[in-house]
Amino acid sequence: MPTPSRIAASRALHAVFGSGHRVSDRWDLGLSTEDAGLAQALLGLCLRHWGRLQAYVKPKLKDQSRNLPLGSQVALAIGFAQLAWMDGVAAHAAVNEAVELAADPGLGFPPHRGLVNALLRRGAENRQQLRAHLDALPASLDRTPFVDAVLEAALEPHHAAGKAQIEALWAKLQVPPHPAFRVLRGDAPPELDADPHLEGCWSLREGAAFPGPWLQSGAGMVQDRSSQALMAFHWEGKPAHILDACAAPGGKTTSLGLRFPDARITAVEREPRRAERLKKNLADRGVKAAVVVAEVTDFLANTTGTFDLIVLDAPCSGSGTLQKHPELPWIAGNIDLERLSEMQRELLRATIPKLEPGGLLIYAVCSWLPEEGEHHRAWMRAANAVLQPAPIWAGEYGAEIGTTSCFRPHPLKWEGEGFQAFAWTKR
Ligand SMILES: C[S@@+](CC[C@H](N)C(=O)[O-])C[C@H]1O[C@@H](n2cnc3c(N)ncnc32)[C@H](O)[C@@H]1O
Repeated sequence: MPTPSRIAASRALHAVFGSGHRVSDRWDLGLSTEDAGLAQALLGLCLRHWGRLQAYVKPKLKDQSRNLPLGSQVALAIGFAQLAWMDGVAAHAAVNEAVELAADPGLGFPPHRGLVNALLRRGAENRQQLRAHLDALPASLDRTPFVDAVLEAALEPHHAAGKAQIEALWAKLQVPPHPAFRVLRGDAPPELDADPHLEGCWSLREGAAFPGPWLQSGAGMVQDRSSQALMAFHWEGKPAHILDACAAPGGKTTSLGLRFPDARITAVEREPRRAERLKKNLADRGVKAAVVVAEVTDFLANTTGTFDLIVLDAPCSGSGTLQKHPELPWIAGNIDLERLSEMQRELLRATIPKLEPGGLLIYAVCSWLPEEGEHHRAWMRAANAVLQPAPIWAGEYGAEIGTTSCFRPHPLKWEGEGFQAFAWTKR
């Protein structure tokens, strides 16, 4: 039987390449801390180097015109990734485990057990050479047209979409991100260090264990640096009613609850399971909010209420999360950008009538693509005379001087997910 870490990594690869699914953020939940660490490293390597791992294997096959079954591709990728880049894994363990994966009827392709064994054994004879060979293959093999479009879109607004900067950004996104945390109650646990550049943000000390029990107690939460900076917007308003329009799992609802403890917060989420998680997260963290399970457009059409502050953290392609989600390049064919963009416009349209005069509307997406951000800003400006841009972030976030109504940190200078956010007030 392969170890749980290899099984988990294999399952996740099947989900991505077999079904076109994103890797669920709970994919490694059942694993011990040690197994989860190994599985994450392994999955990350396979996804970040999938193109070159396949290109390395292809010329070694007798019939190069035929694609290997996915089970064989996955077993080989897992084996070669360990041999090439995971020095801590013994060669015999890397080979044997991958062969066992290949032999598993659910995860592998048993007729290729011998092929997988032979190829990996040959690679294991000289691991340094294997690594050098894989590293020397063109980095472009690990990219897709989607990635190229995203990199360009990320840098273009900063007038930095030159070839060298595009390559620098791709290299930056290849390094797994450091998780960022927020302390909600009490002191920070000893595993965390204060972020010197972002007040209230904490990061995991080099080599420290992930503070799982502390997070489960609700005394803190994982929240990306970009979300933290975005939610630290400067605004003098004292909102009585707040709407978090797309709320689960509740990171931004929590920020709102901490900052505006006297406000009545409504958190809308359309997916019942995600809404359950939202409720639990808010309860654990001691944040008071009314959770409504509904399409937010239906909710808004049926409520007589209005809001002084609306946060619309809209569903999007997630193109700004390439660093955290290395599977994105491989499943981007399933992303319907036009449909997403139309849905985002519909959500924006629905919120405007429910914003009180003087109220603040924040629209955010974790995407760099202009179709999900900049284009909406242009459309909002043209179509809604009642709204005016609200300069609520420090200018540096929008490559501007003073303050800005556009949150879009420079992707090469800022550690954090790629975001586009815009803010308006109502006249
Ligand atoms: C980007 S996530 C929100 C993240 C959240 N604001 C946070 O900071 O933790 C978008 C969420 O909106 C939900 N959603 C998408 N479309 C929706 C809609 N039309 N009405 C309500 N919720 C929606 C999704 O299920 C998802 O949970």
